[in-house]
Amino acid sequence: MTSAANPPKIVLGFESSCDETGVALCTTDGRILGQALYSQIAMHKDYGGVVPELASRDHIRRLIPLMDETFAQAGISITEVDAIAVTTGPGLPGALMAGCAFAYSLAMGLDLPVIPVHHLEGHLLSPLLSINPPAFPFTALLVSGGHTQLMGVEGLGKYALLGETLDDAAGEAFDKTAKMIGLPYPGGPALSKLAENGNPERFKLPRPMLHSGDYMFSFSGLKTAVLTTAMKLAGVKRPSETMVIGDADKADLAASFQAAIVETLVKKALAACLHQDHKRLVVAGGVGANTLLREQLVKAAHKRGIDVYFPELSLCTDNGAMIAFAGAMQLREKPELLNSRDYSMHTQPRCELAAPSGNC
Ligand code: KG4
Ligand code: ZN
Repeated sequence: MTSAANPPKIVLGFESSCDETGVALCTTDGRILGQALYSQIAMHKDYGGVVPELASRDHIRRLIPLMDETFAQAGISITEVDAIAVTTGPGLPGALMAGCAFAYSLAMGLDLPVIPVHHLEGHLLSPLLSINPPAFPFTALLVSGGHTQLMGVEGLGKYALLGETLDDAAGEAFDKTAKMIGLPYPGGPALSKLAENGNPERFKLPRPMLHSGDYMFSFSGLKTAVLTTAMKLAGVKRPSETMVIGDADKADLAASFQAAIVETLVKKALAACLHQDHKRLVVAGGVGANTLLREQLVKAAHKRGIDVYFPELSLCTDNGAMIAFAGAMQLREKPELLNSRDYSMHTQPRCELAAPSGNC
């Protein structure tokens, strides 16, 4: 509850963990006042993937213009900000460092507190920014380029890891498979676009760990199965040889791969949700933008009386709004954060959001 005497606080948030620079302003009552985003996709495309050193340098170039754009959009001045939130990890070391060095210096100069935000918490809470937000508790399927996790979420900061991938993340599997069949970076969207014209039943690809009885995933075997199939189609003996595959074959392979990965994600996510006795399933992270995943999850969940919640499409992939929002929610929960002046910056390229729950 806020009143004239107790107005909502304003949090300025920064995201720079990978190849998107995001800035946003969010209030402690959950309103995004302004946001600006720059994606480095065009810059990394020529290299077929993110080049970390180029990413860090570009974040530095973009932060100030994006911040100016955010304030102009919100129609407020920087003097009205109460706290600064920034992604401290996980992510690319140099990229995190660029955003954090800027955010911490700004906070110090303005005598404001810094609220460190875990990138995955940003993703996890992003569906709460949609028009129809889920209530706690819920089961969350986090599917990004770096992570594939199932999480039990009892409330803000109360996260239990139910299961995760043993090897590649779902987004990583999309990206690597796409590259293998000659699609441009970022592979996920390109592969799912191509799959629209393909036959998902043409190639019988494995659904790894589907019946493992836990909530763990593994996608590297699936990737290898695609490689073997692609080599057969191209008539080559070694993966290093140039593969020429016809468009129709490529589309069928893309569709078959997508069907396999989506089936695994859907079945495990629903099993986890049912086991947690949750009535709500939340999907977050870049792969959450995948149309087939959205359709199949909604269909399967509906049959079991479970509601599925997704972030707005624009908030599935990395952005500043989810970080400003996560910071604002932390501040709402702990108003004493306003008094913190801890400027000891700790970027954490690898860090867990939650400990394993041990109850799956
Ligand atoms: O969450 P995100 O922006 O970055 C990380 O934190 O990793 O996720 C990026 C990942 C990439 O692997 C990208 O290929 C994948 O999300 N992705 C998709 C789609 N859109 C983005 N994967 C499948 N289908 C999509 N439509
Ligand atoms: Zn992300």
